[in-house]
Amino acid sequence: MRFQDRVAIITGAGSGMGLLASQQLAEEGAKVVLTDVNLEAVETAAAGIREAGGQAIGLQVDVRCYDQIKAAVDQTVATYDSVDILINFAGGCSSRVHKRSEPFHELPVEVIQWGMDVNFKGPVLFSHAVLGQMIKQKRGVIINLGSVEGVTGTKAVDYGSSKTGMMGLTKCLAVYGAEHGIRSCCVSPGPVLTRPGMANMWTRMGRAAEPSEVTKLILYLCSDDAAFISGSNHTIDGARSVGVR
Ligand SMILES: NC(=O)c1ccc[n+]([C@@H]2O[C@H](COP(=O)([O-])OP(=O)(O)OC[C@H]3O[C@@H](n4cnc5c(N)ncnc54)[C@H](O)[C@@H]3O)[C@@H](O)[C@H]2O)c1
Repeated sequence: MRFQDRVAIITGAGSGMGLLASQQLAEEGAKVVLTDVNLEAVETAAAGIREAGGQAIGLQVDVRCYDQIKAAVDQTVATYDSVDILINFAGGCSSRVHKRSEPFHELPVEVIQWGMDVNFKGPVLFSHAVLGQMIKQKRGVIINLGSVEGVTGTKAVDYGSSKTGMMGLTKCLAVYGAEHGIRSCCVSPGPVLTRPGMANMWTRMGRAAEPSEVTKLILYLCSDDAAFISGSNHTIDGARSVGVR
């Protein structure tokens, strides 16, 4: 029960690793606020956590919209009295999400804007919204989801550069937060089996990660066992980003 009495806000909690991490945090005692643009998904997931004996609520938040972010943080404090953990999972490759096959320079600008807004601007805005409460508590952890493609570079330019930005955001939050007891870490996965297509992506180990392999690392970084770790990026990519191919 590493997270007994800790309150966690999760973005992109409607599916994939955000959903799994929410369930695992609740199993270890956290009160979890699941947020996603997909309200039905987070309401169903939160109800499942409550049925299993945990504490959780589901809220609709589009991370591109500061009013919705602020309302969710206010509701979290009103319901559970603190915000100890924020995990910025919401994101995805814009051309995949928008079902586009053109190269980057031919993509409609709206698609590129979606990529930058969800993958980078949202985490900056959400971090801004929780910092005041975390500073008041003198405690907090913010985990940002990068990607191996933010480490190596990729033809998915808006996605890869936004994910590189997550490493920068993490460093800045670590510098900003240290004197207030706030840590921040970036986790940059290689392919993860949150959807079948990821099994076809190359890694040096010849396989993609199970979602739980990544969420275990994230929960460790959220825990007090990682009390001296801040500002760092943690690749978890089956050695995809190292060596010469
Ligand atoms: N799956 C992988 O192989 C992989 C690899 C590297 C990095 N990542 C990163 O990890 C994170 C989670 O990946 P996943 O595969 O578990 O995700 P996923 O695609 O299963 O879930 C993403 C969630 O984000 C939500 N979302 C989309 N737009 C949103 C918005 N505007 N506001 C709020 N929520 C929104 C979706 O509804 C969805 O529930 C993402 O940031 C992704 O880029 C994933």
